[in-house]
Formats: sequence, structure tokens, C-alpha cells
Amino acid sequence: MKDWKSNKIVDIKKYFENSLTTIYSIGETQSIFKILIESKLGLSQKDLIINPDLKISESEVLQIQFALKRLLKNEPIQYILGETQFFDLKIKVTPSVLIPRPETEELVNWVLEDVKVSSQVSILDACSGSGCIAIALKSNLPNAKITGVDISKEALSIAKQNAQLNKVIIDFVEDNMLDSTMKERYEIIVSNPPYVSREEAIQMQDNVLKYEPHLALFPESEDVLIFYKSIFKFALKSGSKWVYFEINQYKEEELINWLKLENVTDFTFKNDISGNLRFLKISF
Ligand SMILES: C[S@@+](CC[C@H](N)C(=O)[O-])C[C@H]1O[C@@H](n2cnc3c(N)ncnc32)[C@H](O)[C@@H]1O
Repeated sequence: MKDWKSNKIVDIKKYFENSLTTIYSIGETQSIFKILIESKLGLSQKDLIINPDLKISESEVLQIQFALKRLLKNEPIQYILGETQFFDLKIKVTPSVLIPRPETEELVNWVLEDVKVSSQVSILDACSGSGCIAIALKSNLPNAKITGVDISKEALSIAKQNAQLNKVIIDFVEDNMLDSTMKERYEIIVSNPPYVSREEAIQMQDNVLKYEPHLALFPESEDVLIFYKSIFKFALKSGSKWVYFEINQYKEEELINWLKLENVTDFTFKNDISGNLRFLKISF
């Protein structure tokens, strides 16, 4: 193929974008190419502008070709590279963990707005996955005592590696948040639990459905609010002062009905940056 043979990065970019726009928008395709060349070749967008005749080696071309092949099968770029960025931190990801989402950075930010940097608060990240929330919190609250809990051994192993990678100390524990036996007191609980209903799965993109762990997406119950209910009960037992949840934007009414049933009066909903209802804070 002429475009690949020239080894010129601009030709490769053109070919890459033409191929990938069959499944992604042009904007997404451009941003995937940018991430790919940055991670694999150490090149920035600026390098391409300054030096449009830049040629890359045969093995570098092969790396891009190989990534493109996997991308065309809907595999997320983060799994192909084995890493992503979250709150300016490098987070290792494998198909055992959900790819951290930008909305979840906003959840972390909400907690950080409420807690003093020097605070020695104890925080539980319930359903910790890659450990992104716990690690971002600990990186910004050095004196806080942070625990992450997940039911998946594989996810816990990745979370521990991520804590090491980011040089923070977090206690990652295996437990079932639907029936937790933990006795510790956590002043704050933060959670982005599985919250997608099976009906919503039909509208989900292939790259999510085919590659991301279903254990992380779908609650193992007909009741899509089951994690909120269980974690709330755990928070009562644990003597927590605040719980911060990432929520399903389509479940506002059900959540309000449940909060009423539990006689919770001090709660706040918050939209994400795209204007979708996304977060809930309960104060005790
Ligand atoms: C939506 S992901 C969130 C991961 C991470 N906190 C994030 O925000 O990217 C939900 C996580 O819950 C875990 N999980 C599923 N069922 C669980 C259970 N019963 N108890 C504890 N964790 C569970 C999954 O393994 C997954 O890592």
C-alpha cells in the first residue's frame, strides 16, 4: 500500500484516519491517532506540523498497522496501549478493569473540593476497579487513609500495580460490596459501582460491550440500584459522614424514591460537564 510504504507519518496518518472513520467519527479518529503516536513513537501533534516529511522506521510502521487492525475490531485504544490517563496520572488497564472515564474525574474533584488537603480522613473507594479513584484521591490528600474494595481478584491486582506505579500507599481489599463484612469506619465513601441496566446494553457501543468487563458494567441483580442501596447500608453501619456516588443518568426518579424511603433529606445531585445527571452526594 503506497501510503504505508512511504513511511511518511503524514501519509500514514491519512491512511489511518480514512480506515478508522468507518467506525469512529473523524474527531475520535484524530484523537486516537494522537494518543497512539504519542505513546508508541513519542511524537506529538506539533512534531507532525513542524516536520511534515518526517519518516518513521519499518518497525514503527508495523506497530501502527498492528494497532489499527485491533482498533478496526472495536478494541479500545486504552487496552491496546495497556494504559490511560486519569487525573493526570498514568493508569494501567487490562480487559479485567473498566477504562476510567472523564466523568469519574469529576467525581474525584467533588470530593477534593470538600476535603482539606491536610485532612487525615479515612476514605473507602467501593468497587475500585483499576484503583483510579483511590489513587487520584491519595495523590491529592497525602494524609488520608484510603482503602479500595473490589470483588475481582484481577482488578485488585491491577489496582495494586497502579498504586505502586503512582507511588501511593492504598489498602486494596477483596470483598463483596453487596454483602460486606468489613468492620472499619470510613468517614467518606466514594463509589462508581456497576450501574448499567440490561435494557441499556442494546444502545451501548461495541467497543464497550465486547471488551470491557460486564462485572464492572451491569449489576448482578434485576434491581439496578442494588449497589447504592447496599453501600448506603454499609455507610450507616460504618458511621460515614458523606457518600459520593457516580449514578445512572436515567435513574433520577428511582433514586429519589429510594432516598425518600430511607428518610434521607440531606442529598445533592450534580450534573457532569456534558450536562447529564451523574453524581449524588449523601450527607449523614
Ligand atoms: C464501574 S466499575 C468502576 C471501577 C473504577 N472505580 C472506576 O471508576 O473506573 C465497577 C467495579 O465494581 C466491581 N464490582 C462488581 N461487583 C462487585 C461487588 N459485588 N463487590 C465489589 N465490587 C464489585 C467490578 O469488578 C468493577 O471493578
